[in-house]
Amino acid sequence: MNTIRALRENELPYLIEVQKKTFTSDLCESLAVFKNRFDRFGQFFRVATIDDQIVGYIICFPYKLGEIPKNNAPFEANLKRPDCFYIHDVTLIPEARGQGLAQLLIESAFNQAKDLGFTKVSLVSVGQSGNYWDKLGFIEYPQTTQEILQKLHSSYDEKSRLMVKDI
Ligand SMILES: CC(C)(COP(=O)(O)OP(=O)(O)OC[C@H]1O[C@@H](n2cnc3c(N)ncnc32)[C@H](O)[C@@H]1OP(=O)(O)O)[C@@H](O)C(=O)NCCC(=O)NCCS
Repeated sequence: MNTIRALRENELPYLIEVQKKTFTSDLCESLAVFKNRFDRFGQFFRVATIDDQIVGYIICFPYKLGEIPKNNAPFEANLKRPDCFYIHDVTLIPEARGQGLAQLLIESAFNQAKDLGFTKVSLVSVGQSGNYWDKLGFIEYPQTTQEILQKLHSSYDEKSRLMVKDI
């Protein structure tokens, strides 16, 4: 059976396993960083399971539109007042793709965003995501500045884009 459910703290090592299978090594984050993100915002994280096995996850949290969390680094102690929901990662192991689970993970994030009263979802589209996010209606953040581009390129590849979608 396929399900989407909340992540439990003791399951973080499974996420590391999924990450290794799905993201290029330059994008991978350490267990310590996952733990830091979980301690701050774990209530929003969701996993996809097939027959009780974790096959993917979505890491998302309230954040400030126009800001980009540094990849593989803990959060700053004081984050700006959030005004959007930010999708940091969504991923599925190859065997779990093409079954609608990604859509369910993303819908779960949109529903959380709406429940929190946000009207925008943002994320960084990296080179390996191709035009995936464009097809889901995300557009490049219209107020992208040189400073934002510098932050993007210090954490991600040169094709990375800060994107936003009204929900
Ligand atoms: C992104 C991901 C979660 C999508 O899962 P999925 O099960 O393939 O999603 P879907 O079956 O809903 O596919 C939706 C569409 O997106 C397309 N797609 C998937 N990955 C894509 C990519 N990297 N680039 C462009 N299009 C992509 C699929 O081909 C499909 O197209 P179609 O509807 O025209 O047939 C999965 O491909 C994945 O885990 N990729 C590796 C991690 C990653 O890059 N995550 C995104 C960045 S955070």
